[in-house]
Amino acid sequence: MMTIRPIIILPDPLLRLVSKPVTAFDARVQALVDDMFATMYDAPGIGLAAIQIGVTERVVTVDVSPKEDEKHPMAFINPEIIAVSDELNIHQEGCLSIPDYYAEVERPAAVRIRYHDANGHDHEMDCEGLLATCIQHEIDHLNGVLFIDHLSRLKRERVIKKFIKAAKRDSDD
Ligand code: NI
Repeated sequence: MMTIRPIIILPDPLLRLVSKPVTAFDARVQALVDDMFATMYDAPGIGLAAIQIGVTERVVTVDVSPKEDEKHPMAFINPEIIAVSDELNIHQEGCLSIPDYYAEVERPAAVRIRYHDANGHDHEMDCEGLLATCIQHEIDHLNGVLFIDHLSRLKRERVIKKFIKAAKRDSDD
């Protein structure tokens, strides 16, 4: 059974927590991954970190295939970046936890990652293009870092203020 879970939104303090490594590769982890795919495709988004559905574990789902193509779901458990390119790339980023806000972020153009699959097996993968951007964005989430942290302080504070106001408006209703 896949369940679409609610996505937490800025300024929810959970988004600033550092997630814990997964140590048991059991049915519970597979169920978490399944729910994350359901939630990510429903949103829709190209990446999701477990903390975005309130689970403080180092689990990421990604699908950067173009919409018209077949789905290409990828799950990364305990992902870490083990090498980065000197070359940098600027991509426009957004985040399901910061809806309707987009900004250009500069990151390494390519990264090599190490991760476990849902069965606990070790893998390494070279990522470039949109996948490189997406996986760096999601690994940031596992460390309590948001893409707006890569912007100027002025821009970041403006966004945070806007979302604090919106959250206050919603709770006043
Ligand atoms: Ni995000």
